[in-house]
Amino acid sequence: MRGNLLTALLGLLVVLAAGKEDLGLQNFNLTQFSGMWYEIALASNLEHQSPSPGRKVGAVRVEQDGAQLSLTSVSDHMNLCVKEKNQAVKGDAPGKFKLPLDSGGKEVIVVATDYKTYAIMNIVLHRGGKPSSVLKLYTRTLDHNEKATEELVEKAVEQGLSVSDVQLLTKDLTCVNLLS
Ligand SMILES: *[C@@H]1O[C@H](CO)[C@@H](O)[C@H](O)[C@H]1NC(C)=O
Repeated sequence: MRGNLLTALLGLLVVLAAGKEDLGLQNFNLTQFSGMWYEIALASNLEHQSPSPGRKVGAVRVEQDGAQLSLTSVSDHMNLCVKEKNQAVKGDAPGKFKLPLDSGGKEVIVVATDYKTYAIMNIVLHRGGKPSSVLKLYTRTLDHNEKATEELVEKAVEQGLSVSDVQLLTKDLTCVNLLS
């Protein structure tokens, strides 16, 4: 009996927690989301995104540009810092943005954020057949963020990825320095 009650309570807590998170993104605030974010971890089962040792941290600068969103990013692709500037438009839900076809037609979805310390974004690529996605963990500082990393792992597992698909990036500022 007691076990059942506990299970029911835990279930309720999970539902409440999930509900709260949805609410957070309903009120997604672009002004608070703007600014500099460091990419410190990612989760993907894509071949070219698969764990490569020594992959360096990246960064993205988010700026509001009228109704659009300007994203200036730099990330490490196989030991090469790749810098990109993209204009994104708002998608069909709060926290969802679309990049035009000429920049890959990607969709950027803010899955979780507290604005002040971390954000988890899902980058969905619609190339070829079925869409594939990369989950990225961004933080405001380069410090390791245990709690946010755990949340990234949780989101990755929810999306059918495994813990081994999650990789922490190396604190090498070569790429990040190209943004500042
Ligand atoms: C978004 O956040 C800014 C800065 O905190 C605040 O001034 C603004 O009112 C917020 N906008 C909405 C729609 O809540």
